[in-house]
Amino acid sequence: MAYCQQDKTQTSLSIDATYLNQRLDYLTQKMEKYLEELPVDSLKIPRSIDIDGSLIATKSRQWTSGFFPGTLWQLASHSKSQAIISNATAWSQFVEKEKWDTHTHDVGFKVNSAFGKWNTVQKRQKNDEIIIQASQTLIRRYQDTVGAIRSWDFGKERWQFPVIIDNMMNLEMLFDATDLTGDSIYYHIARQHAVTTLNNHFRPDHSSYHVIDYDTLTGEIRNKHTHQGTHHESAWSRGQAWGLYGFAMAYDRTGDERFLAKAKAIANYIFTHPRLPADMIPYWDYDAPNIPNEPRDVSAAVVAANGLMKLAKHDHTHQTQMIEWVDKIIASLDAEEYQTDKIPYLLDHSTGSVPGNFEVDKPLAYADYYYIEALLQRLEWTKGNHAKSNHSDD
Ligand code: GLY
Repeated sequence: MAYCQQDKTQTSLSIDATYLNQRLDYLTQKMEKYLEELPVDSLKIPRSIDIDGSLIATKSRQWTSGFFPGTLWQLASHSKSQAIISNATAWSQFVEKEKWDTHTHDVGFKVNSAFGKWNTVQKRQKNDEIIIQASQTLIRRYQDTVGAIRSWDFGKERWQFPVIIDNMMNLEMLFDATDLTGDSIYYHIARQHAVTTLNNHFRPDHSSYHVIDYDTLTGEIRNKHTHQGTHHESAWSRGQAWGLYGFAMAYDRTGDERFLAKAKAIANYIFTHPRLPADMIPYWDYDAPNIPNEPRDVSAAVVAANGLMKLAKHDHTHQTQMIEWVDKIIASLDAEEYQTDKIPYLLDHSTGSVPGNFEVDKPLAYADYYYIEALLQRLEWTKGNHAKSNHSDD
């Protein structure tokens, strides 16, 4: 694969271990202050900010509920802050019951973001049990005829069996469940879901559709749609990022070369896109009609940065280029305009759904979660820990 070189690689900051440690220290202290003012409430898990500046909070049932506790666990893994650990514990416990939710694929996002990250700070048998139960719940949504896990139950008037590119992210928990139990059923379902997505979700230029709808009787494709993009044939930015992260992760867990090739191709699509701004924070859709007068989506940038970090471990030929792209994103987000003081968020300018007209150009809990994950992954890279990769293409 030939990676285009563009003048989008210059960073004004030196992203080294000192910078990353200082940044994580600063963000930890900022979060500690926020927590002093944030009541712990099972019905008010932080998600975004409303037009009037008030907190948009959720019950555990929504797909974002694991991200705020997961952000706290990640900051705790860096700082060992007791204030953050006790808050992370309390907020995570509200999410536990989602291990029973059979109505959405998002059980992976919800449970793994909280309890998977809890395990990185304090290994607990109970966390493993929750992850295993959530995985048992998730695989009930797998259908053999389609070879995929059903994403949503809503929209029955439009779709029979919708599978969205985002669903690649829920596979990580299934790979963990096989590691934890020795039962390969989770692995096989996750791998088959990734193969089906690989075969059906992508256009020749490696951009991804958002929603593929399957016929439940034949497994044939009925429609290729979008739900959060500008139109069915557009490239919704966060969807491209979910695909990059998802296939890089799936390669990491399976060694399947097809997944590596797809992750590389998606990275190339995103980071050489002519409408990717110079600071590498994309507009909410690469085909949004009024670029450059369109909202950005910081969450897409940080999800993609994590995908690049996973991919760089395996793609030695292009790893310098990939780390430069990650560093550009990290440096861009250091700018005052992207930081926020709105409790309890770290970053501004993410976009939930333009077609749904919600959370447009706002702080989002999942942007913060993947931002901290990117900083931590980049810090590990400075320590040479990427050398532990199991698979490599060269
Ligand atoms: N998984 C939902 C979203 O990315 O908005």
